[in-house]
Amino acid sequence: MIIDPIFDLIEKEEKQQKDLVYLIPSENFISENVKKALGSGLSNKYAEGYPGKRYYQGNKIVDEIENLAIERGKKLLGVAHLNVQPYSGSPANSAVLMALVNPGEKICGLKLFAGGHLTHGHPNITFSGKFFESVQYDVDEEGKIDYNKLYQLVDQNRPKLIIAGTTAYPWIIDWKKFREIADNVGAYLVADISHIAGLIVGGVHPSPVPYVDVITSTTHKTLRGPRGAVIGTNNVELAKKIDKAVFPGMQGGPHLNTIAAMAVAFEEDSQPEFKIYAEQIIRNAKILADTLKNNGLTVFGTENHLMVVDVGFEKGKEIAIKLEENGIIVNANTIPHDKGSPFKPSGIRLGTPAMTTRGWKEKDFEEIGKKIAKLIG
Ligand SMILES: Cc1ncc(COP(=O)(O)O)c(C=O)c1O
Repeated sequence: MIIDPIFDLIEKEEKQQKDLVYLIPSENFISENVKKALGSGLSNKYAEGYPGKRYYQGNKIVDEIENLAIERGKKLLGVAHLNVQPYSGSPANSAVLMALVNPGEKICGLKLFAGGHLTHGHPNITFSGKFFESVQYDVDEEGKIDYNKLYQLVDQNRPKLIIAGTTAYPWIIDWKKFREIADNVGAYLVADISHIAGLIVGGVHPSPVPYVDVITSTTHKTLRGPRGAVIGTNNVELAKKIDKAVFPGMQGGPHLNTIAAMAVAFEEDSQPEFKIYAEQIIRNAKILADTLKNNGLTVFGTENHLMVVDVGFEKGKEIAIKLEENGIIVNANTIPHDKGSPFKPSGIRLGTPAMTTRGWKEKDFEEIGKKIAKLIG
């Protein structure tokens, strides 16, 4: 019998994931139950459409599964309507843009190099930057969103939709200010909470739901579920447009194994232990940032699960490689107003969700902080 070498590689990767220190803020470790749902026979089934309105037969059981994921997710995130079909965060954001903005109309998001995401209107090379007119906001010297400048930018450009959301931003987001800025021009306000959704449901970051029209979130970061995404809203009209944009607008058949795994993760995220986990993420991030600062480094942050560390002009990648050689996995990242190029950034981004899942506490993060500071030199 020929044994497929792919299984050796999977085993190697899974062993490595147990042995190394993972500090990439968007990563996490799923539970055995989430993994079981992901690896199940649900992957075999086609179910284009939504529960009760499918194009193929044989979907009674998967309807129950999708409905359960929806109900659990709605309760968890506090929204009246939830679409659980987006294949991942980028398709979810693209579907929201397709639903609410016409090609050529203006959208407004945080610059990639200030901590935004590609799907928030990054110019020229992305769907969001090519098919819409994108105006982008920035952060101040401290790396914080300058809400006054954002107000002026929005007032002058009058975008149809504003995205409040970040991928490398260590501060609490002021949803109320975003709402005032959007209301001034009658824009839709979308919160992309991909990074902080687990902190929100764990009660350590304010929820955007009372302030925004739509939320999008990946389910694989702080929510600790499978790779996938959700789109939520309390507005019935927007809900209809969003559902149409996801299917048939952007996607075909939903990944039912992923949806089942989401349902499992949402149940886990609703347990009292998850709140304790979220609180520990924050305590761990604080001690990591403090340790790095006490050892002479310039750190942007932190009020959440991540921080950006200045490691010297254009040295981000070199330091990330050096850390990897020492068993610590991070990513190179631009620092606010980086003088280096995007391909040669001057910082690294560190986060605590994954190792907190692994059971790390303050003393572990203090120790790793000292080690990282020493390696940066
Ligand atoms: C804020 C934000 N939105 C969207 C995404 C895209 O998610 P995905 O990689 O699942 O497409 C990310 C991923 O890093 C993100 O940080």
